[in-house]
Amino acid sequence: MSKRKPMMVGNWKMHKTWAETSVLAQAISNREKNTWEDTDVVICPAMCNLKAAWEVLEFDKSKIKIGAQNVHWADEGAYTGEVSVAMLQDVGAAYCIVGHSERRAYAAETNEDVNRKVKALLKGELTPIVCVGESEHIRNDGAYLDYVCKQVSAAFAGLEDNEVSKCVVAYEPLWAIGTGRTATPEEAQEVCAAIRNEISTEYGKDAAESIRVLYGGSVKPENVDGLMAQPDIDGGLVGGASLDADSFTQLVDATLK
Ligand code: 13P
Repeated sequence: MSKRKPMMVGNWKMHKTWAETSVLAQAISNREKNTWEDTDVVICPAMCNLKAAWEVLEFDKSKIKIGAQNVHWADEGAYTGEVSVAMLQDVGAAYCIVGHSERRAYAAETNEDVNRKVKALLKGELTPIVCVGESEHIRNDGAYLDYVCKQVSAAFAGLEDNEVSKCVVAYEPLWAIGTGRTATPEEAQEVCAAIRNEISTEYGKDAAESIRVLYGGSVKPENVDGLMAQPDIDGGLVGGASLDADSFTQLVDATLK
């Protein structure tokens, strides 16, 4: 476990209606412990249900934070279907996932889009959770470290060192997302260390030491301990196992061992 404050982020993807969001947020809030103050717990419901989760957590005076799964970089404008940073602030979001592989694949999000979104979020004082990760094909070809580092570099292009240190990076190998096939702790550590090294080279040692790097891809209570034990893994970005209050609670607790 590193000296950075750990994190556990639940990415609910396109799951849960408004009522179901309230129920799950309430169930997680009910399990919140005092020890959770030593870790950053974030839930990311669907855009239209952010307020539902916020209302539950606000009523409970919970320390759990809300994150969105996407944002547009423009302040406002003719962007049908999009949501701005100000709109996210308005519904209580403190974090926003950017460049998830599903958005890169299904919404053609590019490294340049990711960079614009990161800048817009930082301007609005929301924390970007920047997702990077290689496909199975790239892994098998052997150039995955270079590929992931280039994604990191592109996401942060033009930022100051102190801005980079405020961000979060999530390494999510595509071959491990929703497949049940987790990266081994050693495989995940190798890439997370390379990400930190890339940040050190470009933005200095301080930024590299403070930025949190998460692992995502089939994280479950059964495999989380090995991942959390790695020196460069500061937490998890979790899909499936975050949709159940018991398993998500176990994952949060694992960041504190
Ligand atoms: P799973 O945990 O369902 O593999 O999803 C990972 C992910 O994509 C989180 O953003």
